[in-house]
Amino acid sequence: MTDRTPLIVGNWKLHANHLEAIQMVQKLSYRLDPDDYDRVEVVVAPPFTALRSVQVVIEQDHMRIGLGAQDVYWEAEGAFTGEVSAPMLAKLAVDHVIVGHSERREHFGETDETVNKKAKAVIASEMAPIICVGESLDQREAGSAEQVVVTQVKGALARFSSDEVGALAIAYEPIWAIGTGRTALPDDAGLITEIIRDTVRDMTDSSAAESVRILYGGSVNPGNIKEFMAKRHIDGALVGGASLDPDKFAAIVRYWK
Ligand code: PGA
Repeated sequence: MTDRTPLIVGNWKLHANHLEAIQMVQKLSYRLDPDDYDRVEVVVAPPFTALRSVQVVIEQDHMRIGLGAQDVYWEAEGAFTGEVSAPMLAKLAVDHVIVGHSERREHFGETDETVNKKAKAVIASEMAPIICVGESLDQREAGSAEQVVVTQVKGALARFSSDEVGALAIAYEPIWAIGTGRTALPDDAGLITEIIRDTVRDMTDSSAAESVRILYGGSVNPGNIKEFMAKRHIDGALVGGASLDPDKFAAIVRYWK
């Protein structure tokens, strides 16, 4: 059996300026009890412009909330106008970086190859990537969901060592379930997350496969989180819309209550 600590991540996407972000993390912190953190790892991922402010609040108030970034560039520095690097994020005490979100794949041309490079850079700076994978509605209806996800996992984790894989997280987010209010059936999500773990085992070894945390994402809310968390291979959630509301997000974090 496993002792993977559940990981619940709030992906704020393009919401909240730095002042709003400070209020959001404070409200979240008020709604959580100290012993919640013994059971769950909680991470919020604000936009880049709010990272520093949120980091300062977390530090000053001794919050046990982790700090996530929503993207990163793979080069450490150079002539790459507009980009932000992994060492810069690490210096801000960021601990998790979302990589390859479907919105980035769709609108910003991310590929399995760029996801692989970004994840490598995140690990090299001693942070944990949260690698997003998931099929579109067309792919699901064509019966190719499993194959699409396996290809994405293989591409994202290419040339990774077992130790590297064991330290990261993979988020299974069916694209048709993101922001739509329509979730995957817990059984389907349970099956795909099992396939992801099997793929990781095939690529590395059992120890990496048992350590890697696999999250579900896509319209997670306080009413459905429990069902997903009950699945053997689901170790947490990547939460978009509901993470913007501290009451809802706190209820998701305390999913067992
Ligand atoms: P959602 O987003 O919870 O709003 O569906 C999830 C995500 O995109 O990570």
